[in-house]
Amino acid sequence: MAKGDRIDPWSSDQSTDYGRIVDQFGLETVDLSSIPNPGMLHRRGIVFAHRDLDVVVGCIHQANPFGVLTGLMPSGRMHLGHSMVIDQVRWFQNQGADITVTVADLEALATRGTSLSEGRKTAINEYVHNYAALGLDPQTTNVYFQSSRPAVQRLAFTLGRRTNLSEFEAIYGFGGDTNLAHVQAPLVQVGDILHPQLEEFGGLRPIVVPVGIDQDPHLRLTRDIAQKTNWFNVKIRKAGGITVALSIQEDNAAMFGLMNGGTVDKGIRTRVFKKMETGIRNLGFSDLSTNEKHGTLEIYGATPSDRPSIRMVMLSLEREMGGMGLMPPCSTYHRFAVGMTGDKMSSSKPETTIFMDDEIEEMSKKVKRAHSGGQPTVEEHRRLGGDCSKDVAFQYLQFFFEKDDSVLDEIRRDYESGRLLAGEIKQLCINSASEWLLDLKEKRDQWEGRLDEFLSQDSL
Ligand code: TRP
Repeated sequence: MAKGDRIDPWSSDQSTDYGRIVDQFGLETVDLSSIPNPGMLHRRGIVFAHRDLDVVVGCIHQANPFGVLTGLMPSGRMHLGHSMVIDQVRWFQNQGADITVTVADLEALATRGTSLSEGRKTAINEYVHNYAALGLDPQTTNVYFQSSRPAVQRLAFTLGRRTNLSEFEAIYGFGGDTNLAHVQAPLVQVGDILHPQLEEFGGLRPIVVPVGIDQDPHLRLTRDIAQKTNWFNVKIRKAGGITVALSIQEDNAAMFGLMNGGTVDKGIRTRVFKKMETGIRNLGFSDLSTNEKHGTLEIYGATPSDRPSIRMVMLSLEREMGGMGLMPPCSTYHRFAVGMTGDKMSSSKPETTIFMDDEIEEMSKKVKRAHSGGQPTVEEHRRLGGDCSKDVAFQYLQFFFEKDDSVLDEIRRDYESGRLLAGEIKQLCINSASEWLLDLKEKRDQWEGRLDEFLSQDSL
């Protein structure tokens, strides 16, 4: 954790105390058994936490539409660490999601001084090219640039009214000397995350954002802001059932029948409640009671698992009545892979990671030098076995290169029992990594000159 108990999204130095992070920021842990067709990153516990993933899982089960929003900083070269999010994106895409990819060119300008034209080149040649090679389907993938999508910036500006500097100070540690472009970046990211729900970008549907834990402050901010704009709060009742409560705000007071003097126009209020009731009854609930004056509707027969569908109905009604109807995003969090030297992986330290276009020889050299979980002598290793939790070669097989669970289990057993030596596990890693890199290169070659297929109309 960068500063005290705060996460700094712009620092490469992130805590890997995942248990504490889960508790501290109120994340939910991943229940593997609830995920249909879990991918490699799920099966191996690499995706360790989430917010509201059950909403998306519900969409998968019921074949309802949902989207994924992911973002990239167009600076530096793409390396293994970046591929983890894409593995997840591809998995969601296979489960039916549409994919929106943000090129965070405004953020890169604000926080790293990358010019927009430089950012564009890097985004396309380095990131989009590798995303294509990693197997994203262009049919349902849309890449856009923050700087050329006015709807995102409009949303950022509009939603900026729902937060203030003190909140940004508390979340991000911004101070008086923070440059204002940097202050705007998180708001633009709020716009990135929420805009796929706008009618012109696919309309109301759950959006999941797969990220490393460093991005969670942005997700907390986005969820908080989205929720503040909602006209109806859908809450689980302690005594059982679900309550829908009007959230009366400046821009909906009249629609909800609140008059200037503070009195309630009963006719208007009753009509709102009729609409609410109709929506809820259409979901199949019949045991309802309303308190129009207090602005609440109780659904006695609803259980917590009904909340997503009730929320959807209320968001549609909000839109019908003129509100934004924004659903707070869902998110998943993956572990950070260890750097090859045993410390953090960082693109500014090439010896800590494997780049997508590393030569085989370069990669081999790095693996051979990588931090090992082996014992100091062969004799001790045979006796005590290797430590997978410290071994970079093993972990890279686990995170990136070895797709077959039973092969990985065998490697683990052999290494831990001392049958497999440190040099040998490194060679296995080199073999798999070579195959992986060569395949990626071949796929990149196939996509050469065709990357426009991934770009949205407004980024051509
Ligand atoms: N802030 C992200 C990063 O540092 C980039 C980004 C911008 C992003 N908008 C996003 C990531 C929306 C996820 C979702 O890498």
